[in-house]
Amino acid sequence: MEGVIDHHMRNILTRIGGYHHCVTEFVRITDQLLPPSVFHRICPELILTGKTDAGTPVTLQLLGGDAGAMAENAQRAVELGASAIDINFGCPSRFINRKAGGAVLLKEPERIFNITRAVRKAVAIEVPVSAKIRLGYETTELALENAMAVEAASASFITVHARTKVDGYHHPARWEWLGKINDALTIPLVANGDINSVDDFLRCRQMSNCRDFMLGRGAVIQPDLARQISAIQSQTDQPQTAQPQSAMKWDEVIGLVVELAELMQRQPFAKQKSVLGRMKQWLAYLKRQYPQAGALFSEIRTMKQLSQASELLRHTQAPLSCSA
Ligand SMILES: Cc1cc2nc3c(=O)[nH]c(=O)nc-3n(C[C@H](O)[C@H](O)[C@H](O)COP(=O)(O)O)c2cc1C
Repeated sequence: MEGVIDHHMRNILTRIGGYHHCVTEFVRITDQLLPPSVFHRICPELILTGKTDAGTPVTLQLLGGDAGAMAENAQRAVELGASAIDINFGCPSRFINRKAGGAVLLKEPERIFNITRAVRKAVAIEVPVSAKIRLGYETTELALENAMAVEAASASFITVHARTKVDGYHHPARWEWLGKINDALTIPLVANGDINSVDDFLRCRQMSNCRDFMLGRGAVIQPDLARQISAIQSQTDQPQTAQPQSAMKWDEVIGLVVELAELMQRQPFAKQKSVLGRMKQWLAYLKRQYPQAGALFSEIRTMKQLSQASELLRHTQAPLSCSA
């Protein structure tokens, strides 16, 4: 997720567990072959193993509308160590869509096919190539056609964000569509959209008949959500009696926010403002699950100094013990 799930966040979340793989923010491709530095900036994991510290493989995501350039850049990404490529056909940004990338391509299933096929052909067959689509741009009219275009282009799997571009990120996602698309495909369909709790996951699984799920905002709203879901998934024999693991306690969660800030600050040229912004951002997501995050967010929302916010968070994390 652009601006939210960078390599620090991937490290933190995958260490908690439950992820089979994770995906980078998108690398935007226009009509040129990008230098290695761009891939390394978006996916620093490439420099070592292509995995997070916890050993979870990282898929590199590309976004663009020029099939030739997408293919060339996919090839470069793989040469640099990417173990899988995902193509973003879901980004709703007006700026990106104006440049013929992201969700606007859902109006043209043939381009979806051409881009996916070009990327698929450009890299070795062992390298999974997937595509992430929405249900459409304005309507769901082309949902099946787009999904079938991805399959026809020999993608390894498809992720479907169960909203149109016009739906934005509004609740509820249209999970009923996932079942329809799943029925029409032979490649695996990864269900995405509005999975913010174990209960959401169970309902989405029932409606979509999917085996694979991608978390979006839920990954940061409840940092151990993937671990909880994975525990349930592993009890496939008795799904009705599956008991979710208890959710991560706030004490542990606040420690993760402090850790994110520390990891960011350790980077050369770290900008205090960016670190502070990311702390505020995560607390804003977390407050949907943890009331304590809401209280903390209200306090740091207007702070301008990182040191002040860090001090408050550290204090919250480990309150000083009082002795009589
Ligand atoms: C701030 C933000 C940034 C995102 N960036 C990306 C991205 O770079 N690539 C991508 O495939 N999806 C991106 N998404 C979409 C999510 O991956 C996901 O498909 C979407 O949020 C739906 O799931 P949710 O309702 O569970 O959040 C982004 C979403 C948000 C809110």
